[in-house]
Amino acid sequence: MTKPALAPRPKDGENDGIDIESIFNAMATAIVVVDADDAIAYVNSAGEQFLQGGAEYLQGRQLDEMLPFDSKLFSLIRQVRKEGLAVSEYGVTLESPRIGRHLVNLQAAPLLDTPNAVALTLQQWSIADKIDRQLTHRGAARSVTALASMLAHEVKNPLSGIRGAAQLLEQNATPDDRGLTTLIREEADRICDLVDRMDVFSDSGPLQRDAVNIHQVLDRVMQLAKNGFGRHLRYNPIFDPSLPPVLGHRDQLVQVFLNLIKNAAEAAPSVGGEITLETAYQQGVRFTVPGTGSRIHLPLRVSIIDNGGGIPDDIMSCLFDPFVTSKPQGSGLGLALVAKIIGDHGGVIECDSTPKRTEFRVMLPMAEKTRATEAEEGTP
Ligand SMILES: Nc1ncnc2c1ncn2[C@@H]1O[C@H](COP(=O)(O)OP(=O)(O)OP(=O)(O)O)[C@@H](O)[C@H]1O
Ligand SMILES: [Mg+2]
Repeated sequence: MTKPALAPRPKDGENDGIDIESIFNAMATAIVVVDADDAIAYVNSAGEQFLQGGAEYLQGRQLDEMLPFDSKLFSLIRQVRKEGLAVSEYGVTLESPRIGRHLVNLQAAPLLDTPNAVALTLQQWSIADKIDRQLTHRGAARSVTALASMLAHEVKNPLSGIRGAAQLLEQNATPDDRGLTTLIREEADRICDLVDRMDVFSDSGPLQRDAVNIHQVLDRVMQLAKNGFGRHLRYNPIFDPSLPPVLGHRDQLVQVFLNLIKNAAEAAPSVGGEITLETAYQQGVRFTVPGTGSRIHLPLRVSIIDNGGGIPDDIMSCLFDPFVTSKPQGSGLGLALVAKIIGDHGGVIECDSTPKRTEFRVMLPMAEKTRATEAEEGTP
């Protein structure tokens, strides 16, 4: 007997003896179905975990009790109802006090049998995805290294010649011409400054690292900001006083946080602008570097959060590349430098940005292993 082309439709909840419900529950992807009124009609096990509640509790509740109504998810649901087609969005941040903060790929599809019901699948970004992004940033920093050495050699020497010549001319110049020679000198100095900034990218051998108190670094940067470029802002330090020291290079870490806080200050509104500096210890944060199998242990987290307009969408994917800037006077080297230094420290930097909240999270290794972390690293 030949097999029928189509298997008979399984009985309710059954598929040749396999319960369909158990298939959904075995999936790592969260599945949530909402009815026409945005009430939760179905949730699988991964969905229960994502929404932090059991199916019995969740079913019948409005989805906007779990997630803010203005989140990207609701606009996708509306779009599906309007167009009747499945839509997906990659790398969406979902955040609420209930579920915390997650970076997910979202898919929303209409349920053909039930008008206006929408099936949502939410796939969380793995640590590997985040590291992958971070490693791409390191690649960007490396490509700028070669450029930096070239600039240092090929540009600085002729530049000092031009500057010297302008200085000589200046001595005998008429007052009118002196304006021009000064201009040449000042512009040559400006190019020199830029080349000096690029110089930091050139490879200078392994980094000398010691135990650094990250709160002293942040205090210093905060003082610099308060007395200079960020004097119009309110600062909100939330420091975990029990944080162990970072294994790092103090001056380079100052540069990292100075650049991040300068960007935050430039983004924050001039009235009501606020920068939060937060430190925390995260037990159990271990990353497996894709392709190498080696594991990094990065338990120290420093977040710099501002309430500015957010990062323009079109530069988000190349944020850490050199010369990417949206500012008329910007060089676009700040974040490339930050990525290079964090990379040299074996750390990771991530960014989440929505209007009114941009967060840069830096994860760093600590100076000494405590017994607790050794035990933790020992676990498979
Ligand atoms: N906190 C932030 N909020 C909004 N946008 C940001 C923030 N941080 C960075 N950006 C965006 O990223 C771009 C790149 O930043 P980066 O620090 O590399 O260069 P820049 O600030 O433009 O110039 P430079 O730092 O060299 O003076 C900025 O031009 C800005 O568009
Ligand atoms: Mg900058």
